This record gives sequence, structure tokens and C-alpha cells, in this order.
Amino acid sequence: MESWEKLRESCLNCNRCALHETRNNVVFGVGNPEAEVMLIGEGPGEQEDLTGEPFVGRAGKLLDDMLSIIDLDRTNVYIANIVKCRPPKNRDPLNTEQDACIGWLRKQTALIRPKIIVCLGRIAAMRIITPDFKISSDHGSWYESNGVKMMAIYHPAALLRDPRRRPETFLDLKELESMIKKICTKTYT
Ligand code: URA
Repeated sequence: MESWEKLRESCLNCNRCALHETRNNVVFGVGNPEAEVMLIGEGPGEQEDLTGEPFVGRAGKLLDDMLSIIDLDRTNVYIANIVKCRPPKNRDPLNTEQDACIGWLRKQTALIRPKIIVCLGRIAAMRIITPDFKISSDHGSWYESNGVKMMAIYHPAALLRDPRRRPETFLDLKELESMIKKICTKTYT
């Protein structure tokens, strides 16, 4: 299998879809490639495109706060997106763009071999868990594929738009924490 650095280098040069024409940076991912927990968002926004790092805008700050509730941070999880280049005006990534990009995420996942995947929001859940995923009813439930436990929670940007969903997300995070305690073996401190 290709090494992490080789994968990253080829991804940074990707031109498999039209998003490469308008990007400032490919947003490959951030965190610990040895992590047992992987978080998957939708795609870079403006700040992410400018810095090359996922979840650095307002939603990213909230994500960091959410992770800290259960003692996680960017050193003990890996964070990536379904598409690695910013869709213009932050529109949802097209299926064709997701199809063109998903191979990078699959290779990242094959190298990381996480025990738990957490989808951030509807777009990631529909792509990773099941196409008929309904975030309002299915968030916080566990799914399993090839021995990997998967769950989706509301996207932090959705929580910024509608803070009434925060209490449910708190419970989802506690559920994630219990699963980590149950099946993860690494200590990160
Ligand atoms: N939203 C996402 O889904 N991903 C990011 O990296 C930033 C915002």
C-alpha cells in the first residue's frame, strides 16, 4: 500500500474534477493518522480553502469545543472531508464531485484503519453510512460496516444555525464517548 506522504502528495496535485480550477488549497485532512476515531465532514469552506486545513472557521471552533467535551482534540482523532476542494459559494458538493474525490478518502481510511467513523452532517452520512440517511431521526445511532462502527451527528454549522439541536448532540457525543471507552485501546495523553 502507498505511504501516507505519497498519498498526500498525489492528493495535493489532484485535478480529477472542476473544483481544482477554483481552489486555493486542497484540504487533505488534519490530525493523527494513527487515530482510532475518524471524523468526516462535507467539504472545505472559505477559511479552509485559504488555509488548507479542515474546520478552521466558526464551525471548526464549535467542533473543537464539541470534541473537548469528551476529551478529544486534533491530536487524537483524524478529520477529513468527503470532498477536498471548496465548492463555489459553499454549495453542496455535486455527486460527480463526490465520486471523483471519494477515492482519496477511501485510501486515507484504509491507511488509518479507524475503529470508529463519525460523520459530521447529512452529506457525509449519506455517502458513508447509507444514501437514505435522515440526519434528524438517525443521528446518534450506530451502524457497522466491515467491523467499523459508524455514527453521524449534526454538522457543527447546522448547530450554529439551530442551537436547539445542541442538547441532542451532547447526548450523541456522550454515546460516542462510551463506545470509545468500550472498543478503543489507545491512550492519547
Ligand atoms: N465544513 C465541513 O464540512 N468541512 C470543513 O472542513 C469545514 C466546514
